[in-house]
Amino acid sequence: MTVQTESIVIKQHLIDPEVCIRCNTCEEMCPVDAITHDSNNYVVDVDICNHCMACVSPCPTGSIDHWIRVRAEASYSLEDQFSWTSLPEEEADLPEGGDTAAAPAQQAATSDDPNADLEGLPSTAAGANVPPWSAAHPYVNLYTHKNVTTATVAGNYRLTDDTTDNAIHHIVLDFGNTPFPVLEGQSLAVFPPGTDDSGRGFHARQYSIASPRDGERPGYNNLSLTVKRVTSDYDGNPVRGVCSNYLCDLKKGDTVKVIGPFGSTFLMPNRPNSNLIMICTGTGSAPMRAMTEHCRRLVKKDEFNGKLMLFFGARSEKELPYFGPLMNLPKDFIDINLALSRSPTQPKQYVQDLIRERADDVVKLLNDDETCLYVCGLKGMEKGVLEALRDIVTQAGQNWPQLHEQLKAQGRLHFETY
Ligand code: FAD
Ligand code: A2P
Repeated sequence: MTVQTESIVIKQHLIDPEVCIRCNTCEEMCPVDAITHDSNNYVVDVDICNHCMACVSPCPTGSIDHWIRVRAEASYSLEDQFSWTSLPEEEADLPEGGDTAAAPAQQAATSDDPNADLEGLPSTAAGANVPPWSAAHPYVNLYTHKNVTTATVAGNYRLTDDTTDNAIHHIVLDFGNTPFPVLEGQSLAVFPPGTDDSGRGFHARQYSIASPRDGERPGYNNLSLTVKRVTSDYDGNPVRGVCSNYLCDLKKGDTVKVIGPFGSTFLMPNRPNSNLIMICTGTGSAPMRAMTEHCRRLVKKDEFNGKLMLFFGARSEKELPYFGPLMNLPKDFIDINLALSRSPTQPKQYVQDLIRERADDVVKLLNDDETCLYVCGLKGMEKGVLEALRDIVTQAGQNWPQLHEQLKAQGRLHFETY
């Protein structure tokens, strides 16, 4: 007698390679390390993913939210997924099943909060996944891979001194009659022209918007980006970054393919008495410029009287984007703290050193429910910033884990690092 064994059908979590902008958010968010990537695609390991959904809402494009019913023995391997250019179709006439949260092996996986351990902290888990309650409602995904829009370059100039190797550009994009509504803290993505080594069009790269909601020029349908020309990789080897070099070389009148806007949590509170603590390095200054400029325009109309505190890290003054305009801002409008790491005249400083120096003022602001914190720039600074916050709060006799949880739950602590 033969026993018929029926296939177990599972729901496999997959990422749509056509829509994914390779921003790494899902990999950072995943508490069980089920998500990984190669130079081609971001993929989910079916043996590890426990369908906890931690990656789903932070994904800026929705490419993460795909679930296909497959026979367990025929589930897609990492190698399969690395090779894809689009998602496969679900097999027709599958037996019943696949509706449970996870396959048995998947259910065994844990979803402990890694944020409990500061040493091994993944970035996004350290911050809120909700916006401040008073934030304006953002538009997201108005333009996608299937519905790309075009912007025209209205200006492109270098922000950092010509004598340095660090080329950071301010690029203004005009959307003409095409609606592209944004809020401070949101981002967009740009498709560089051309194809990769395998002949496929390059995937889109994400950039923070550096201008306020009412336009780089108030009342105009334009916005700005702060783009660093990537000429060496993270290990310091020479490389020509595809999209950053394309953007930095653009001329006035050129057109650019854009999707977005993205981001529904890294948003500023919409209250006249809110306080912002902004901590950034390099191009991480883009959203801080947007927020500061929005507040400056509100102040002119007598509609904002909160406190702004900025911690800004750069190698030197010459390599600090927006140095001139920043220094012209009134001292009673914004409290600026510059951390220069390679200044010829000062000892090396990082933003976290200055947070410690200004402990009393930072803790005072943290204890005000109207205060939100934003951290943007180098991935490496996250841990240092969190440690500095933990230490100053603890030294003030307060309970950091408790305050940290409160800041996250109230949408008052946000990270965007890359
Ligand atoms: P690629 O061709 O993709 O990469 C070339 C090589 O350089 C690769 O080896 C890659 O690993 C390495 N590399 C990539 N980026 C860097 C880097 N920054 N430093 C050193 N090596 C690198 N960039 C901005 O300039 N301004 C922004 O406002 C901005 N905002 C972002 C917001 C988010 C949420 C994210 C996820 C990224 C943001 N980026 C920003 C980074 C941007 O999306 C690109 O990754 C960056 O411009 C490099 O793209 P590329 O095509 O030039 O380099
Ligand atoms: P460093 O001189 O050590 O590179 P970049 O110009 O590469 O975008 O960096 C911006 C600033 O961030 C630089 O001053 C850089 O210092 C600093 N930086 C580098 N690593 C960290 C870190 N782990 N924490 C805080 N700041 C950092």
